[in-house]
Amino acid sequence: MSKRFLRPFQIVVVLLAVAAAFVAIHSRADNVYAGGWATITVADLPDHFVAGQTVNLSFTVRQHGVKLMDDLTPSLIAVNGAATVTASINREGSNYHAKFTVPKPGQWAITIKSSFGPNDITLLPIQALAANNQAKALSEAERGRRLYVAKGCLQCHKNDNAGVNGRFPWATDLTSKHYTENYLARVLATPEKALPPKDHARMPNLNLKAGEIISLTAFINAGKRTETD
Ligand code: HEC
Repeated sequence: MSKRFLRPFQIVVVLLAVAAAFVAIHSRADNVYAGGWATITVADLPDHFVAGQTVNLSFTVRQHGVKLMDDLTPSLIAVNGAATVTASINREGSNYHAKFTVPKPGQWAITIKSSFGPNDITLLPIQALAANNQAKALSEAERGRRLYVAKGCLQCHKNDNAGVNGRFPWATDLTSKHYTENYLARVLATPEKALPPKDHARMPNLNLKAGEIISLTAFINAGKRTETD
């Protein structure tokens, strides 16, 4: 009697447990998804800084490499040995504008923290020159290598020649790839036209400038690591 009486109640308990488990699994999946990954793209990467002069560096953050995020509170620090400079950052739509001054000449490592999970990047070191010093011109391939990191290519495309690693690159490994200039120009300038739909849904148009595409092409096709000087 009591068993018969409890049976519907037990069924309800089981159903509630299943529903709770479903919600738990689902929201956990949601969290992993929402907390997932993002790429950071620096707009105009300078070849060098000048000590004592203001640096303006703008960047965007794309969730899953694609969707621009405009609700973050990112930070940027420049580090040279024990010296650390923190940028002030303003947001304009989905563009974050960082402003800072490196106080002295030397190599500065710039780290941008997106504030969206652990999705941060450290740029390849940028040299700050003394105010009256001439800049030594970078080769196209070296500029391309720096852009490869600063644009976020490395977060999707492994490339051993970059000298640093992305967190978990998953698209084509470009380490020993060579392409025609024409093909690269099309993929980089207009991935939405050059790549099939499934792929261009995942490779963002990063609004690269013609000069940036020339540098990236030189780097990708160089096939070996290019040194600073
Ligand atoms: C958010 C991820 C993502 C980012 C960022 C990204 N790509 Fe891609 N890229 C893809 C995907 C996906 C494809 C098409 C499928 C594949 O090749 O894995 C692709 C295709 C390519 C191809 C064509 C490969 C081939 O063999 O046809 C090249 C070259 C390329 N990307 C270079 C770059 C460069 C350079 C950058 C940075 C300026 C960049 N990508 C940024 C995801 C990305």
